[in-house]
Amino acid sequence: MFQNVKYYPGDPILSLMDEYKQDARTSKVNLGVGVYYDDNGHVPVLECIKTVESQLVEENQPHDYLPMDGLPAYRQACQKLLLGKNHEAITSGRVATIASLGGSGALRVGAEFIHQWFPQAKAYVSNPTWGNHISIFEGAGIEVHKYPYYDPKTIGIKFTELKQFLTQLDVGSIILLHPCCHNPTGVDPSHEQWDQLLDIIKNKQLIPFMDIAYQGFGEDLETDTYAIRKAVEIGLCVYISNSFSKNMSLYGERVGGLSIVCPTSEEARLVQSQLKFTVRRLYSSPPAYGGHVVSRVLSNTKSYEHWQQEVYIMRDRIRKMRSRLYEVLQTKIPDRDFSYFIKQRGMFSFTGLDPQQVARLKSEYGVYMVENGRMCMAGLNSSNIEYVANAMAEVLK
Ligand code: LMR
Repeated sequence: MFQNVKYYPGDPILSLMDEYKQDARTSKVNLGVGVYYDDNGHVPVLECIKTVESQLVEENQPHDYLPMDGLPAYRQACQKLLLGKNHEAITSGRVATIASLGGSGALRVGAEFIHQWFPQAKAYVSNPTWGNHISIFEGAGIEVHKYPYYDPKTIGIKFTELKQFLTQLDVGSIILLHPCCHNPTGVDPSHEQWDQLLDIIKNKQLIPFMDIAYQGFGEDLETDTYAIRKAVEIGLCVYISNSFSKNMSLYGERVGGLSIVCPTSEEARLVQSQLKFTVRRLYSSPPAYGGHVVSRVLSNTKSYEHWQQEVYIMRDRIRKMRSRLYEVLQTKIPDRDFSYFIKQRGMFSFTGLDPQQVARLKSEYGVYMVENGRMCMAGLNSSNIEYVANAMAEVLK
């Protein structure tokens, strides 16, 4: 009966994690999945989260259903974090927001909504992008294409080509953008470049879908939203998927949000109702725990400030690892320029290693990174960085 079912070989990023777990070598290093590990190699439980968790245990609330679109306090907190407190779009009720099952859930609900109400719309993702972007949009029935983005020659953006590409797209095309900490390259547009891109998007009547999964890991919590806020400021309707997996270290709790900034509050009311309907028929309502934790952290000034400090500790540790890796590699191979490790932003670096070199790192040294050469900098720590740098230098020779 099921003999024609096609076998799913697994996701390249998550399968790598399984392979890593089975590797018996004690020297192994996991630089694959986008998870922040502290300097001891552990996924941290943030102090601000612990405080809120103990309050929740004490209150011992019943495990009731949440509304289809999540806790109102959570939804408001997401809007403020993305657009800024008292933003006109929020106060005038122009933003539809739902809690989602992580960033992936937000992308999927957004894609379902687009497919239903704008069935002709094609989606465009950066070349390269996080592989699941393509799967999620295609899974919702949307045709997906790539726009030019990363230039391996300059280790920057193919900016002229990108602008040219955008100008010839159909009105209403969805442009999936990474407002900060581009996954997988770590290469972000400058503010001036964002201004130019968003102007083209506006003039050509394209629709930006901003996927922000690493807010706070680039510059800071505010600056990392530059592209989102700019898009809203110039009057664009924007889809925003956000995630607390990384910046609150709440990976398995699946806490994210989907916001759609609409032209009017009446349109936001219609959109909100359809997002709820999409949720109802997909999974009915979001998990409660993460929503309670995050809304408490974000709604209380003291906890918010505490969280902000903890995000910056994570960001700074990643930056330190970037500098150290750069120093060691630059000393070992002086005629090659490794400064891109310092310029790239967020958790990831496109190392420039080819699939054979990545395979050698895994087989000879137990150093795991994604086949396309993406390395998760947050897997480096003071105990393994010299080992990794040496291994990289060996395969680069
Ligand atoms: C990543 O890119 O490694 C993370 O976003 C985790 C994932 O689900 O792929």
